[in-house]
Amino acid sequence: MPAKPITVATLAAMKARGERISCLTCYDASFAWLLDDAGVDVLLVGDSLGMVLQGHASTVPVTLEHMAYHTACVARGRRRALLIADFPFLAGATPERALVGAARLMQEGGAEVVKIEGGASVLETVRCLTAQGVPVCGHLGLMPQSVNLIGGYRFQGRDADSAQTIRRDALAVQEAGASLLVLECVPAALAQEISQALTIPVIGIGAGADCDGQVLVIYDILGLNPKRPPRFSRDFMKGSSSIMEAVTGYVTAVREGSFPGPAETPY
Ligand code: KIV
Repeated sequence: MPAKPITVATLAAMKARGERISCLTCYDASFAWLLDDAGVDVLLVGDSLGMVLQGHASTVPVTLEHMAYHTACVARGRRRALLIADFPFLAGATPERALVGAARLMQEGGAEVVKIEGGASVLETVRCLTAQGVPVCGHLGLMPQSVNLIGGYRFQGRDADSAQTIRRDALAVQEAGASLLVLECVPAALAQEISQALTIPVIGIGAGADCDGQVLVIYDILGLNPKRPPRFSRDFMKGSSSIMEAVTGYVTAVREGSFPGPAETPY
């Protein structure tokens, strides 16, 4: 009997039971099939595809067209995992643009949730989307689409003021109707505090072990990053004899809470 598909309600129930959520980025049908078989709970069609597939220096060049195409590819291989698609640069800048974007990602791409980077600036958009029945995943901390503004890929929330902004934005995004939140590159203690304060599941990347779940870029866990891999990632191919074994190792490590460990938690 096919496994029951995962929904945002499933993830909320997992948080309530204290079960950790595993998430990986995914950009094509073959990987979607494999990741789903390995028991990954959430597939994220991240705009990181601009860097790892397209070879750009940032996610800024990625378009809605690219996102809809890759989301549709993943949807064809996925059977159980929840499918989240990223809004690319500026696609969620106004509620009007976001509605058009969500229609493409969900109707053309088959996404079940859309992810949007931003805090106070996207609250109206989050409210508008959720009022129209679009489940939203927020994204705070390091927001890669703002790399040209912040001047690099750096940890966020390390001083009291910026930590307070992230705390406040996290609550506001939840209140605006978001069903999930990604917290990227923030100190572990801050991520733990936010995960406990929010009722929605918080998925961390470079945010320590005490989030409700973890997400990584699939290429990083397979040792396929041609540059220096991020400090918070782990190469699960080391000691594995197949991609399936590596991905299963990641899922198990997230579930058990052994990933990330101290070595993958810089702050
Ligand atoms: O684009 C992406 O892959 C992401 C994750 C790394 C969280 O946003």
